[in-house]
Amino acid sequence: MSDPIGDDSAEALSTADDLLDTARDVLEANWTGRYTRPSQALYPHQWSWDSAFIAVGRAWHDAARARQELETLFEAQWTSGMVPSIVFDPTAPADAYFPGPEIWQSERSPAAPRGRPTSGITQPPIHARAALEVHRRAPPGQRAASLAWLARLYPRLVAQQRYLATARDPRGTGLAAIVHPWESGIDDSPAWDRDFHRIAVPAGDLPPYRRRDLDRAAAADRPTDADYERFIYLLALEREADYDDARVIAASPFLMVDPLFNAIRLWSEHALAEIAGLIGADPAPHRAAAGEIHEALVGKLWVSARQRFCAWDLRRDQREPEDTIVSFGPLLDPDLPPAIVAAICRELASPSFRPRGDGPHYLVPTYDERAADFDPERYWRGPVWLNTNWLVWHGLRQHGQVGLADEIVASSVALVRRSGFREYFDPLDGSGHGSDRFSWSAALFTDMVLANRSRA
Ligand code: DGY
Repeated sequence: MSDPIGDDSAEALSTADDLLDTARDVLEANWTGRYTRPSQALYPHQWSWDSAFIAVGRAWHDAARARQELETLFEAQWTSGMVPSIVFDPTAPADAYFPGPEIWQSERSPAAPRGRPTSGITQPPIHARAALEVHRRAPPGQRAASLAWLARLYPRLVAQQRYLATARDPRGTGLAAIVHPWESGIDDSPAWDRDFHRIAVPAGDLPPYRRRDLDRAAAADRPTDADYERFIYLLALEREADYDDARVIAASPFLMVDPLFNAIRLWSEHALAEIAGLIGADPAPHRAAAGEIHEALVGKLWVSARQRFCAWDLRRDQREPEDTIVSFGPLLDPDLPPAIVAAICRELASPSFRPRGDGPHYLVPTYDERAADFDPERYWRGPVWLNTNWLVWHGLRQHGQVGLADEIVASSVALVRRSGFREYFDPLDGSGHGSDRFSWSAALFTDMVLANRSRA
């Protein structure tokens, strides 16, 4: 947060014990027996990157469940290597979530697991990094079990990364493309507005549907109806292609290279190198893969004239100019050149993301606060999220930017203290939005606070 709150980081951390207890309660209440729901009402199934974030935080007090969380998710991995964004829970009521399994029809793909409905798209591959973090938290008495778990998971994590490096990189750019904004995990981010908003849904093309999210969250907090229409239209196109990667890539009007998605992929590749070393496999291919992603990230997504990383719309071969949270993702690359790290830190500390004024302010908004369409309440169009805070915090620490990293933790603590474990927060007044008792907010809060304490 910027100084007006006057809440010093060390103090915020030392007084967070009550919040840590509540975080644990949230994770307990959302545990289903095999995985953790992101939230009770809005997201009643298993989500891919949610489970990875949740496992990281849960590992501090229940490493066994953290391991089970990831194993449950990977049971639904497709034979192509793709980890689906949603694994549907057959015990959830049919009207609990839209679009549900009857809309996705994942069984149309021969690569989908039989008898286990999933979505037909993926999400950012944070899982190898999460697995490494979970292993690091294993209590001494569980080290052998944790290593055996890593060894079981390793081939699946490798397959996930290989899928993205091949099926999702048809032009050999070194970068994986996403075919739906939902694959980014930051669905309605302005990062791809210019491309996404060009998609015109043909009149009468979609059968009528009812948005269930609006029964459970304020419409002003959620993506607009117009964006939702495009989300469902893209889903339908992908379903028509039976989720065959080559056909989907040929058909999808949305084909985007996201710097955050690819930075996460790179970070996970480094984690795989470490995991390989721990279980007696060869780390070299992972280091080589990370090196290739690094070259492509810096070579193709860094836009020097703007001094930031930009999403790359492959359909139109254009770099998207919007200044969003995706530009900070490449901090996760340990080999990022210092001049680029410095440029990112300048931007993070600029009035676009950290205005200096009289009122309170919380880090890190997901969109430039000076943009005309910045919206402090609507989903990924401005609010602070604790998962992106966690990613940026990791990236900053990796590059020795401890002061800014500590401010992010202090802001996260202040937000949770003010509004609870909400899904996201208004950076201007700290009010909470979206779901309440949101699992990854509880998990990543726990991780940031306890990791910072053990460093102290
Ligand atoms: C949603 O339903 O809002 C999710 O972000 C899509 O996976």
